Amino acid sequence: MVTESTEAVIEQLGDSALSEIYALRDDFARFMMPYKFAIDEVMTKISILREEFAALHSENPIEHVNSRLKSTESVLEKVARKGIAPSYQAIRTTITDIAGIRVVCSFVSDVYRVFDALTAQSDVRVIEVKDYIANPKPNGYKSLHAIIEIPVFLSDGPVPVTVEVQLRTVAMDFWASLEHKIYYKYDADVPAEMLAGLHDAADVAAELDSKMEELHRQVRRDTRRV
Ligand code: GTP
Ligand code: MG
Repeated sequence: MVTESTEAVIEQLGDSALSEIYALRDDFARFMMPYKFAIDEVMTKISILREEFAALHSENPIEHVNSRLKSTESVLEKVARKGIAPSYQAIRTTITDIAGIRVVCSFVSDVYRVFDALTAQSDVRVIEVKDYIANPKPNGYKSLHAIIEIPVFLSDGPVPVTVEVQLRTVAMDFWASLEHKIYYKYDADVPAEMLAGLHDAADVAAELDSKMEELHRQVRRDTRRV
């Protein structure tokens, strides 16, 4: 949005300053482009896995998938917050969640199944894995995070692009979205009893996950017998 004060500043800028601003904007847009393509690629990989699982096993390990490209504002905000050098190279290596994909599965075993199938692909390089399912965060947060790198083929050749993939169950996702809302509602200063409540809820969600997994296993065993 161009406010009156922005307009006043623009009026005072000379032509050369203005064209420099436009050049910067175009440069940044070019920097962001491969991340959008990387999202497209990983989304295709996931939908292929999803369709293949459905066709081969008549069951769907993936409930839903979301993707988001970090906004320019959030990238710049993170650069400032983390004191990252304002160079494309520094941003590229330090901010690994410009391209983000979230895969929500029914069962914990599916989370690992999808993770294994994705990271085993020969064009996927795993940079970092954080298993917050095996080792939940102190607040109760659970998810399996992987920072991966995939080649994106542009007109002048391939460029390696990092993508953050978060995999979790429906129950973990439900918890994480509520926790996120609460965190922002209280401006990061969440009352102690609310934190304790969230922690309890995380335990209940984990219990639900293990009960559902158990039932799922039982159904598979029983239906295989007939
Ligand atoms: P940034 O938080 O992005 O700087 O990365 P990090 O180095 O802390 O990595 P981490 O893997 O811990 O978190 C990456 C992302 O996971 C976050 O941006 C969130 O989307 C999600 N996440 C991590 N911790 C929590 C949490 O406690 N609650 C919720 N709701 N989401 C979380
Ligand atoms: Mg974090």
